[in-house]
Amino acid sequence: MSQRIAVIPGDGIGTEVISATRTVLDAVCRRHAITLDYDEYDWSCERYLRTGAMMPADGLDVLRPYDAILLGAVGAPGVPDHVSLWGLLIPIRRAFRQYVNLRPVRVFDGVDSPVRGALPGEVDFVVVRENVEGEYSEIGGRLGRGHPEEMAVQEAVFTRAGVSRIADYAFELARTRRGHVTSATKSNGIVHTMPFWDEVVAERAAAFPDVRWRSEHIDALAAKFVLQPGSFDVVVASNLFGDILSDLAAAVAGSIGIAPSANLDPTRSYPSMFEPVHGSAPDIAGKGVANPLGAVWSAALMLDHLGHTPAAQDLVAAMEATLREPGTRTRDLGGTADTRTVTVALLDRLGPVS
Ligand code: NAI
Ligand code: MG
Repeated sequence: MSQRIAVIPGDGIGTEVISATRTVLDAVCRRHAITLDYDEYDWSCERYLRTGAMMPADGLDVLRPYDAILLGAVGAPGVPDHVSLWGLLIPIRRAFRQYVNLRPVRVFDGVDSPVRGALPGEVDFVVVRENVEGEYSEIGGRLGRGHPEEMAVQEAVFTRAGVSRIADYAFELARTRRGHVTSATKSNGIVHTMPFWDEVVAERAAAFPDVRWRSEHIDALAAKFVLQPGSFDVVVASNLFGDILSDLAAAVAGSIGIAPSANLDPTRSYPSMFEPVHGSAPDIAGKGVANPLGAVWSAALMLDHLGHTPAAQDLVAAMEATLREPGTRTRDLGGTADTRTVTVALLDRLGPVS
């Protein structure tokens, strides 16, 4: 049985890391007798500049039947970032109810974290970010533009259904890991939505007596990410808090170039989307030096989601091996390897073509 993947390489290094990832996916799939059928779409800022839209008007209908979406990155100089975000990424996340944004964080052997206490093997956690509601809502407005009394209001929206399902996802995930959840809150300052978040998380926690959990204020939690990054297993957070924490975590892990993410619809009613955390990196685009591992690790998350866990583990093991060798580390990790060198090293690890 084959599964269908929609590939959106995007802009800049997005196209470079996705091309590398496709080669590596072919190798690992051959090894595990997995058949994936790909269709590639040129939806991007480059397309926006040509046609006035990031994707065609029926873009979401086109994507709907796929089993998964693999995305590089979008963004180009001269196109405002809100165009690329609201013209492609956010419509996909919301229309396909990808309510979990999953960001694994690990300090790998061979990677130097800028944080003194973050040693390889000790830092291994997952940020579970709520991805469709919360602080990033379209509810609000502006009044009195240009006048002294000018004002702006933006509402945060938290629903019982929305908080329950993200909490359930985090507790279930913790069960498959080290059995510990940290919930990010700020109920001392944000006095309506955050106490509600805390109440609902506590209610859901009661259904998982085998998982330990604690609640931490976001400010103290941010400090702890730097001071004791080894003390976390699963961290669950609202849309805004999770956004900030996951970028902080990617930095703690040593480079944004290796950070992966998954936008998941755990109900599997819609395709989930897998993408590296980094952007299109115009400063290094076209030079062939981008680190492909963020995209490769995202592809491993995709394989796992599609039910191919042994293949996903193989891919991560190949990543670990290339990171251990100085000759196969890219510049963002202090090495000298280019994208091709890393890709070839991954292919070597994934064994001969059968
Ligand atoms: P960025 O992630 O593209 O780059 C930040 C820095 O990290 C740059 O110095 C870049 O060279 C480096 N870097 C990033 N990925 C790397 C990799 N794989 N290997 C080696 N070095 C890497 O973030 P920036 O510069 O803020 O944004 C550039 C464009 O990308 C903007 O248009 C932005 O909107 C877009 N963007 C898109 C995202 C997406 O598609 N999900 C996410 C983040 C940014
Ligand atoms: Mg972010």
